[in-house]
Amino acid sequence: MNLYDKLLDYSKSDVYPMHMPGHKRNDQFLNHVNPYLIDVTEIDGFDNLFHAEGILKEAMKRAAKLYGSKYSNFLLGGSSAGILSGISACTKKGDKVLVSRNCHKSVYNAIYLNELRPVYIYPQIDKDYGIDCGINPDEIKEMLIKHNDIKLIIITSPTYEGVVSDIKGISDIAHEYNVPVFVDEAHGAHLGLHEYFPDNSIKLGADIVVHSLHKTLPSFTQTGLLHVNSSLVDYERVKEYLSIYQSTSPSYVLMAGIDRCIDLLSKKAYELFESYVKRIEDFYSKIGSLKHLRVIRRENDNFFDFDPSKILISVRNTNISGMDLYKTLLDKYKVQVEMASKDYVIAMTSICDTDLGFNRLADALLEIDRELKEKYQKDNKNVKEALDFDLNTLYRDAEMVMTSFEAKNSKLEEIPFEMSKGRVTGEYIYLYPPGIPMLVPGERITSRHIIQLQRCRDLGLSVQGLEDYTMKEIRVIEE
Ligand SMILES: Cc1ncc(COP(=O)(O)O)c(C=O)c1O
Repeated sequence: MNLYDKLLDYSKSDVYPMHMPGHKRNDQFLNHVNPYLIDVTEIDGFDNLFHAEGILKEAMKRAAKLYGSKYSNFLLGGSSAGILSGISACTKKGDKVLVSRNCHKSVYNAIYLNELRPVYIYPQIDKDYGIDCGINPDEIKEMLIKHNDIKLIIITSPTYEGVVSDIKGISDIAHEYNVPVFVDEAHGAHLGLHEYFPDNSIKLGADIVVHSLHKTLPSFTQTGLLHVNSSLVDYERVKEYLSIYQSTSPSYVLMAGIDRCIDLLSKKAYELFESYVKRIEDFYSKIGSLKHLRVIRRENDNFFDFDPSKILISVRNTNISGMDLYKTLLDKYKVQVEMASKDYVIAMTSICDTDLGFNRLADALLEIDRELKEKYQKDNKNVKEALDFDLNTLYRDAEMVMTSFEAKNSKLEEIPFEMSKGRVTGEYIYLYPPGIPMLVPGERITSRHIIQLQRCRDLGLSVQGLEDYTMKEIRVIEE
C-alpha cells in the first residue's frame, strides 16, 4: 500500500488523536480545498518569503500583532529551522552560550554547526513525577557572574511535559547583563491567547522566541513562527539565516495554512479558548476520582508553572509502565496519545479537540485505574524493578570533555557499548521523544549511562542517535 492510501485509510479509522498536530484532523476547522489548486511559487502578486514586501509581509505583521512581537517570521521547517536560524544569528563561531541542558536536539545541532561552547544549567527534578522543573532565574544570575563572556541564554519553555519556566525573571536578569534570551517555546504557540494559560515568552521579555504552530494550534505540520522582540538581536541577521536554513521554494499551501490559523485566532481566539478551557476543566473534574494513576494539575503542584493543555498521566504509583498504559489506551480504547516514557504518558490537547475525545480519554483512564486497583503490587514485579531509576538524572552525569564540534571532528573508533565506560562519545544518544540528549558528542560515558540506556531500550523506549540502532556498538573518540 502506498503512503497516500495508508493515510486515507487511517483518516477513516476511529482512533482519537491525543497528539500533534494541533488541528486534530478536525473538519470543523479545516474546510480546505484540494491543496494542488493553491500550490504556487513566487509568481507576480504573491511576494517572496525572504524579501517580503507584499501579501506575506502583511501576513507576518498579523502574526506579530497576535503575539505582541516586533517582528514575526513564518517557519516552514518547524521550530527546528527557527532554532538553527535564531541561534546562528545571535552568536559568532566559538561563542560561549548558557544552555538549559534539557533542550531539544535541534539546539544541540545549532551549537554544533556554530562551534559554540555551551555551559549548562540544570533544572531541578520533581521527584514525585520524575520530570524536569523550570529553570531558576537565580541560577542564571550565578552563571552570568561566573562566566562574563556568555553571549546568549537558551531555554526550553514549556518543556515537552508542559513545564513553564519563569521567563520574566530570567529575562530581567539577563538584560541586566545585556545578554539576549532565546526561548524554545515550540510547545507553547497557544500560550498568552487566554488567561487560563501561562503568558507567552514574548510578552514576558524574551528577545527571540520560536513557536511550532503545528504542535498546539490548527496549522499544518512543519509550520511555525520565529519572533524577534528586542534590539539585542540583529533582525537582519535572523532573516539571513532563515533564508539559509529553509527551502528557497517555501510552500504557499503551508504559508496559507499559517495565515488562516492566525486569522482564526485574531478573530475568535477568546471564544475558541473559552470552550476549550471548559472541556479541559470538565476532563479534570471527571478524572478527579483516580486512585492510582495521577495527573499533574497546575494548582496542586505549584513548584513550577504548568501548561494545562498537556495531560501528563503518571503511572509511578502503579505496577504498570508508561509504555503499558500507552498500549492499553491505543489497543483497547482507541486513544493515540503523544508519547510514553517509562513513568508517564502525555496526551496533547488543543482547541480542536472534541468532547468525544476528552470523554473517551477520561473514561478509559477511570476504567484502567479501577483494574489497577486489583492488580496493584501483585504482578509485573520485574518491570517495576527495571523501571526503578530516574531518567532525568542521567544527562547530569555527563562530564563535557570537549565541544560537540571537536568531538565530531576527532578520530573515532567503534567499540562495544557495554565496554564504553569512561570513554568520550562521538555520537548522540537520546530518547525520542522528547529528543533531549542523554549524551552529547564530547561527553564522558558513565556506567549508569550504559546500564540505564540499555534498560530503556529493553523497555521498548525509542533510543536514537547511535549509528548502530541495536546499541551494541558506539563510536567513541580514539585514545
Ligand atoms: C522542545 C522542542 N523544541 C523544538 C522542537 C522542534 O520542533 P519542530 O518539530 O517544529 O521542528 C521539538 C519537537 O518536538 C521540541 O519538542
